[in-house]
Amino acid sequence: MSSTLRTAVFPVAGMGTRFLPATKASPKEMLPVVDKPLIQYAVEEAYEAGIRHMVFVTGRSKRAIEDHFDTAYELEAELQAAQKNALLDVVRSVQPEDMQCTYVRQARALGLGHAVLCAEHLVENKPFAVLLADDLMQGLQGGPGVLKQMADVFAQTQASVLAVQEVPIEQVHRYGIVSGTALGERLVNVQHMVEKPAADVAPSRLAVAGRYILTPAVFDQIRAGGRGVQGEIQLTDGIAGLLKTEKVLAYTYQGKRFDCGSKQGFLQATVELALQHAEVSEEFRHYLQSQKF
Ligand code: UTP
Repeated sequence: MSSTLRTAVFPVAGMGTRFLPATKASPKEMLPVVDKPLIQYAVEEAYEAGIRHMVFVTGRSKRAIEDHFDTAYELEAELQAAQKNALLDVVRSVQPEDMQCTYVRQARALGLGHAVLCAEHLVENKPFAVLLADDLMQGLQGGPGVLKQMADVFAQTQASVLAVQEVPIEQVHRYGIVSGTALGERLVNVQHMVEKPAADVAPSRLAVAGRYILTPAVFDQIRAGGRGVQGEIQLTDGIAGLLKTEKVLAYTYQGKRFDCGSKQGFLQATVELALQHAEVSEEFRHYLQSQKF
């Protein structure tokens, strides 16, 4: 029986050490790119893919994310009284009425696989999406977002789908790397997956980006994987176990990824999205052009 995706899991309990001190008291997923926090870009991507139940796996300093997706009564009342209707719409659009948010706590940051396990009881034994908000993904201009593209692949195949992109060989040690047999221009039937391999043993240059559609069989596989690279419970090990029993597809997405978990990626996202932003782009472009680099 075919099933549709209902739930997205957002692991937001990492330490965010690369952004200290900004992440000392607030999660890195609340860092804004232009005027929106990273987590909101990811939630909007999941919503566009048809998902309405958002599950956040939170850790320390979780309040900011919960508050962000909650109703802000006082703020709304003040904007209403001041007849600032455009701003009121911006505030209200953060949580559409048909969207449900659930929060679950990961008491210790034991790794991404462990964070996903914390959401097991909330996905109701159904296929689900995982989005890492520090990977800010943009589809092609006017085209579907990355998770929507993956959801379309899932709708046709009912198999787990990993978003991948080709990276230079000197970068493979930073990613989960997959290899397998090509099924078409953008699809690979995954046969191997390894976390952060050295360049000389990497099975390919196809790197997993922070978007996954997984079947619930992955939970047992994550548990079976135990502690992996860096002593953490790795999602990659769970997926590597999954592909021994089920079909797992790698999909080369159309669009662009900004690694906002790193300072370089975050700055690049800020510049590029500012240049696309209706309100600030023109002035910002003039500013950049006036600079002598
Ligand atoms: P990262 O590998 O980027 O780790 O996690 P991090 O701790 O957030 O950041 P740095 O490296 O210390 O700067 C990838 C994603 O997985 C989540 C993070 O919140 C991030 O979205 N994560 C990671 C968890 O939710 N729990 C964990 O135990 C580990």
